[in-house]
Amino acid sequence: MAKTELTRELTSLTVDSNLIKAAIFDLDGVIVDTAHYHYMAWKQLAATLGIDLTIEDNERLKGVSRMHSLEIVLEIGGVSLSEAEKEKLADKKNGWFVDLIEKMSPDEIFPGVTDLIESIRRKGVRVGLASSSKNAPRVLELLHIRDQFDVIIDGTMITHSKPDPEIFLLAASRLDLNPTDCLVFEDAEAGVEAAIRAGMKCVGVGNVAQLGKANVVIAKTGDFTAADLDKL
Ligand code: G6P
Ligand code: MG
Repeated sequence: MAKTELTRELTSLTVDSNLIKAAIFDLDGVIVDTAHYHYMAWKQLAATLGIDLTIEDNERLKGVSRMHSLEIVLEIGGVSLSEAEKEKLADKKNGWFVDLIEKMSPDEIFPGVTDLIESIRRKGVRVGLASSSKNAPRVLELLHIRDQFDVIIDGTMITHSKPDPEIFLLAASRLDLNPTDCLVFEDAEAGVEAAIRAGMKCVGVGNVAQLGKANVVIAKTGDFTAADLDKL
């Protein structure tokens, strides 16, 4: 990979790669384009409430829990509902999302991601998954990559979703590592913030305008290679 493909030079990441003992991946938008499926389902739900949810609005939903996402959608539309109504709507959105993911297969994994995970493992660096999604285990099963992870933390295992650092701290603790030993891959602004608050280094996947707080930003997960760990 040519360094020029990176939004920021990898050398700006002042980490001694010997310190990186685990790579912790977010799922939606980092390993597979389920972030788009979440958006489609939220947009459909918002439309039923007369709210036009834009792709820019959607950035605020990435990485945050289902209920918190719904609250952001309602706030955007200036709509106020009872807890019971919110539960119903969150279930409705999830039903649409589940219909979308059930059609998924391993060929939807982003290019280069399987190779990246395998080559990271070959270097003796451990691999974790930290997703706020309660559907993460099912998605990993459908993609046939569940056994590639030493630890999997999903939305059912945490109390506070990103930007709270809980999910990443739990992953580090289950790996029996210090947070400073871990490098996070994240596509969400809330996720980058959570990684930083956890005391971890972070590779932002996407746009530098949104993810500028990450130590380095790449356009696609597959732009990173295990060899880049040695350049950090
Ligand atoms: C991830 C996604 C969010 C989603 C959240 C909860 O963090 O980035 O967009 O809202 O998981 O997902 P769930 O599948 O539990 O509704
Ligand atoms: Mg994500």
